[in-house]
Amino acid sequence: MNSTRERVGLYPGSFDPITLGHEDIARRALSVVDRLIIAVAHTSTHDKRGLFSVQERVGLIREVLEDEERIEVRSFEGLLVEFAKAQGAHLVFRGLRAVSDFEYELQMAQMNQELWPDIETIFLVPEVRYSFLSSSLVRQVATLGGDVSGLVSPSVLKRLHEKLGGG
Ligand code: COA
Repeated sequence: MNSTRERVGLYPGSFDPITLGHEDIARRALSVVDRLIIAVAHTSTHDKRGLFSVQERVGLIREVLEDEERIEVRSFEGLLVEFAKAQGAHLVFRGLRAVSDFEYELQMAQMNQELWPDIETIFLVPEVRYSFLSSSLVRQVATLGGDVSGLVSPSVLKRLHEKLGGG
């Protein structure tokens, strides 16, 4: 790889919705790459019932990270490695919250490597206060009327309330 070339990273996921834990990982990734593409997947490895449409998720991520000029947000269909190739990105970032994430993440990293040997997965660790956090927990707690204001940005909180009919 040419060392003077711009270093582009991908941070893929379902982000339904983006949480403070995801924001933390995205900002940390900026210390490793020149430009970060947050890639919202149309197809997740896990079967998930979505709350926000992919376009809504992209819009929310753009809103909460608008202060970061080096971050771009896109959605993608199909294989992550194909999207990475098309974007000229050899680095994929994933957050590791706990040991329980490890097996699944290792499987994905190795499958991606099998599909495209030039791809490297970099695992970043979020702040400990976000290590229990997941989008589905946020969705469930918000749906049941619990307070998630410490777990998502204010604009995400507002959209959650609108979506769930709470104001
Ligand atoms: N803060 C908060 N939550 C976090 C987090 C953090 N720092 N890091 C992970 N999570 C949570 C997510 O909120 C998500 O929670 P949920 O399951 O409750 O929604 C969970 O951890 C992991 O989901 P996510 O990061 O969104 O990944 P995923 O498993 O849904 O999908 C893709 C990962 C999109 C990268 C993968 O499915 C993919 O590459 N898809 C494209 C198709 C493909 O190429 N498949 C082959 C890949 S081997």
